[in-house]
Amino acid sequence: MRLTFLAVHLSSVAAVLATGLYPQIPSVASFSSSSGDPFLLASDVRILVDSKEASVGSPSLLDFAQVFREDLISVASFATILPVGVSSKNTASYLFPTIYLTIDTKKQYTLFNGKPTEDGYDLTITHNSITITASAPIGAWWGTRTLLQQVALAVASGSRQITFPIGQLSDSPGWEVRGFMLDVGRHWFDTEFLSDLCIYASFFKINEFHLHASDNLWNPAWLYGDGNEGWKKLYAAFRFQPADGSPIAGLVPRLNESWTQSDFRAMQTTCAQHGITLIPEIDTPGHSLVISQWKPELMENGTPDHLNLSYPDTIPTIKSIWDEFLPWFSSSEVSIGADEYDASLANDYINFVNEMSSYVKQKSGKSVRIWGTYEPSDTLSVSTDITIQHWDFPDDDIPNQLMAAGYQVINSEQDFLYLDGKTSEDNQFPQELDQDLIWGGAPGGKGWAPNVFSASDASNNTSIDNPNLRGSIMPLWNDWGNNATTRLEIYYQLARSLAVFGEKAWSGSEARPLALTRDQFDASYPILNAAAPGQNLNRVVPARNNVVYDLDIAVNGEVTPIESVGPPYTMTFSVQPSSHSPSTGTLFSGIDSILHVANLTFEATGQLYALGYILPQNKWTTVAIHATRDYTYAIIDGDESTKHYWTTLMDLWGDEIVIGNMSFAAPSQTFGGDGFSGAIKDVSIVLGT
Ligand SMILES: *[C@@H]1O[C@H](CO)[C@@H](O)[C@H](O)[C@H]1NC(C)=O
Ligand SMILES: *[C@@H]1O[C@H](CO)[C@@H](O)[C@H](O)[C@H]1NC(C)=O
Ligand SMILES: *[C@@H]1O[C@H](CO)[C@@H](O)[C@H](O)[C@H]1NC(C)=O
Ligand SMILES: *[C@@H]1O[C@H](CO)[C@@H](O)[C@H](O)[C@H]1NC(C)=O
Ligand SMILES: *[C@@H]1O[C@H](CO)[C@@H](O)[C@H](O)[C@H]1NC(C)=O
Ligand SMILES: *[C@@H]1O[C@H](CO)[C@@H](O)[C@H](O)[C@H]1NC(C)=O
Ligand SMILES: *[C@@H]1O[C@H](CO)[C@@H](O)[C@H](O)[C@H]1NC(C)=O
Repeated sequence: MRLTFLAVHLSSVAAVLATGLYPQIPSVASFSSSSGDPFLLASDVRILVDSKEASVGSPSLLDFAQVFREDLISVASFATILPVGVSSKNTASYLFPTIYLTIDTKKQYTLFNGKPTEDGYDLTITHNSITITASAPIGAWWGTRTLLQQVALAVASGSRQITFPIGQLSDSPGWEVRGFMLDVGRHWFDTEFLSDLCIYASFFKINEFHLHASDNLWNPAWLYGDGNEGWKKLYAAFRFQPADGSPIAGLVPRLNESWTQSDFRAMQTTCAQHGITLIPEIDTPGHSLVISQWKPELMENGTPDHLNLSYPDTIPTIKSIWDEFLPWFSSSEVSIGADEYDASLANDYINFVNEMSSYVKQKSGKSVRIWGTYEPSDTLSVSTDITIQHWDFPDDDIPNQLMAAGYQVINSEQDFLYLDGKTSEDNQFPQELDQDLIWGGAPGGKGWAPNVFSASDASNNTSIDNPNLRGSIMPLWNDWGNNATTRLEIYYQLARSLAVFGEKAWSGSEARPLALTRDQFDASYPILNAAAPGQNLNRVVPARNNVVYDLDIAVNGEVTPIESVGPPYTMTFSVQPSSHSPSTGTLFSGIDSILHVANLTFEATGQLYALGYILPQNKWTTVAIHATRDYTYAIIDGDESTKHYWTTLMDLWGDEIVIGNMSFAAPSQTFGGDGFSGAIKDVSIVLGT
């Protein structure tokens, strides 16, 4: 059961713009208002889809309209609205207010570089109808996001009615690729969480989710140390689960940390129904320890995370992996990774990426992307059919030179766009995208946009209309593995970052009159984050005067309807383990976390975080757990002088071990269980710390 979204109290209210619209994220290209009575949105609204176009394509206009209806009910807090209808007629004559979705294939929308895009749409707002017109269903989908954001901002403004000024809105993105990447190779994530990320990101008109689905931790002593064979034990993972009896089954020894085909397909469909394309990445011939652990005979001598491309079995093995999984993917492009390989083997490398590009194209019709990689050769060059994802200056060729040479480029420059789960070495990367840098930094600076590659050297930036600049992807890496973060901590790092990225990747920093100011973004973001429909990553729950529940008696095994509570919260209880089995079982569990009796150990995503506190037997102990998005600590028996923090240890590339706080959602759903013997009483969860 999912909890339904509940409006939370909001301190900021977005001011309406001179145009009559609220400043939404991303900003729209243009709106011209007309005089006359506004469109009034109420629960008698009908959503109608043009019958000529309703079922064309996948997702179709009708599919998108069904999701939109659910979202509108949520964002406007309507009890319900009538099911989506199909109609050949436009709307002026209807007696009820109407939102009409239609396709006009003659409509042309263009990116900043003049290339056509299907992501554009128009909203024609009259007194009794809003018509969303696009050249393809995906454009209409983005139009529904615009409409929903205006509703959310109107609701938050406190005005009694939800109204739209009459006028003509026209909008389309500046760039084709507006994506985010998650390192799902070094950290395990289930598909339900990843689907929720798609749904959330799509509210900000992000259209790609790049899954970096194979990788390993990097620790030189373990990988390259003499004789200790640490490489066999270092964490490495591949997330697509081969079919039963597949010849490549050995690639995935931990099935519990892989996606079945049906789980993957369901996620891919959910993302597509929200306008997001999954771009899968299988990274070879570097970052390939997971393959070496399976087939040690393919690795480079002394470098187990690199495959030796000269062995006759290496490329056929990589092809056999793609053979198994290419049929899973509905995207027209995949990433073969191909980063950080030996510069001294440039010809092997270039032959490999070109061969894989042809192979993937011939097998599936799909195109290939690689990460920018420095591989100097006098005789060979990477095919210009391959899109290059730039991420770092010393590690790949200069983006302007690549584009001049005819390569399509995606900007993932780390100075602006990299995040790392929880921490990074020497704090190289911020927790969230650096807002000063993104909005302009130095006085007069225009800030980051996909055409900006360097903050220090303008010669590395390009113009917004460069025909070979496809757009941008913002990556979040998980260099410290599974136990560095919970899945929700990853969402906390992404939440605001995705919104500001969405603005810049759609509208840019210099071209558009309605592009947001930082103040406008700051006022609208909390409202839109709280209203974003279709998921509940904030784990908002119903509460009365901030009290979620307050129970004198907790029955062992009792299940509450509250699956999980997002921080900040304070969870208090008294517990008396019996002497029978004092350290067995769970005290509380929920969909995001479990609290075990032994050592007061929190569990999240299969990882254990012991507090190191042993509860005495046959004696009541009172525990108050205080959590924010940055930490979780316990106060025992009211002793406020000692805060016991739950922490993790992160091994930063073998250079140093760093301690980090853990934030856990409250395990609010089930009391006791898993063999717990003893008593629990006075359980309460109050929002706030
Ligand atoms: C890679 O394989 C080739 C061909 O067998 C061999 O000559 C070379 O030494 C190998 N290199 C490494 C680093 O394993
Ligand atoms: C920018 O480009 C120049 C060469 O055009 C290069 O020397 C410089 O290091 C680049 N790097 C950055 C971060 O701007
Ligand atoms: C380009 O580079 C300069 C210098 O690094 C920077 O100040 C500017 O904001 C960048 N953006 C544009 C659009 O030129
Ligand atoms: C998967 O199983 C392995 C081995 O039993 C275990 O170490 C790991 O924590 C499990 N992963 C998850 C996510 O539960
Ligand atoms: C409690 O945690 C410590 C380390 O934090 C560990 O050595 C001990 O085995 C744990 N005890 C139980 C019962 O889990
Ligand atoms: C987490 O993993 C690291 C190694 O990556 C290990 O040193 C540490 O003990 C693990 N557990 C916790 C709770 O920190
Ligand atoms: C954990 O959070 C507390 C409160 O902000 C802070 O004082 C402490 O330094 C943090 N610990 C670590 C390891 O970051």
